[in-house]
Amino acid sequence: MGRITFDSPSVKLENRAIWTLSADGSNKVYGETIRKNRKSIWRRWDPFRSKLGAAMIKSKNHPEDLLPEIGSTIVYLGAAHGTTISHIHDHICGSFNQNNGRLISVDISPRCLRDLNLLANRRPGIIPVLGDARKFETWSHLIPRGADWLFQDVSQAGQVDIFIKACKACLKKNSTALLSLKGASERFNQGGDEAIFLETEKKLIDSGIKIVESIGLSGFEEQHMLFHCKIN
Ligand SMILES: C[S@@+](CC[C@H](N)C(=O)[O-])C[C@H]1O[C@@H](n2cnc3c(N)ncnc32)[C@H](O)[C@@H]1O
Repeated sequence: MGRITFDSPSVKLENRAIWTLSADGSNKVYGETIRKNRKSIWRRWDPFRSKLGAAMIKSKNHPEDLLPEIGSTIVYLGAAHGTTISHIHDHICGSFNQNNGRLISVDISPRCLRDLNLLANRRPGIIPVLGDARKFETWSHLIPRGADWLFQDVSQAGQVDIFIKACKACLKKNSTALLSLKGASERFNQGGDEAIFLETEKKLIDSGIKIVESIGLSGFEEQHMLFHCKIN
């Protein structure tokens, strides 16, 4: 390849390496590589540790289309320990949240919340929520005017149903929503992962959600498909 795929003020994709401009100096979040130059510090976004990172590399469209805009309000369901959240934060919030972004970061695990709270202390704009993605009525008050972008990566059965409900409850019109779906988390289907992914596409379309691209993540995460969707 050997070409710069895109180069924005806060995210660069060079060859197959993604970098975000650190909002927290040279502090690492998950042992990632740091690159410093005279003016700035960049953190390497590991696509083997982040499905959003993997999807940006594997997408056949412009990878930047997968990212939220700088300063936007986003919902992230299945925030885990904040690996992907930290890179999104670099991009939409920046140092001291100079861009006024908001990342509602929901996870059901108290252990994950402990790590997310530590991350949020260093990175204003991250709002950790100990909650269930299925019970949006318990956390949607945090986004009274709706969100601009939603990402879901929850390791449990019924992922597409949770996603459709959350999108309808939380998102503004013309927003972007990404569903990272793990075939193995769904109930057994004789047709295997292919059948699960096809069924997911059908449910999304039947619910009125437009699929921009279905991105297979093999090479980074097996048995995973990331659905890039638009909500009208
Ligand atoms: C595969 S991990 C997410 C990794 C994360 N997206 C990243 O890139 O750093 C899945 C997460 O979903 C969370 N989870 C599972 N079911 C959930 C639910 N119903 N509501 C919220 N979080 C859930 C788990 O606790 C776990 O942290």
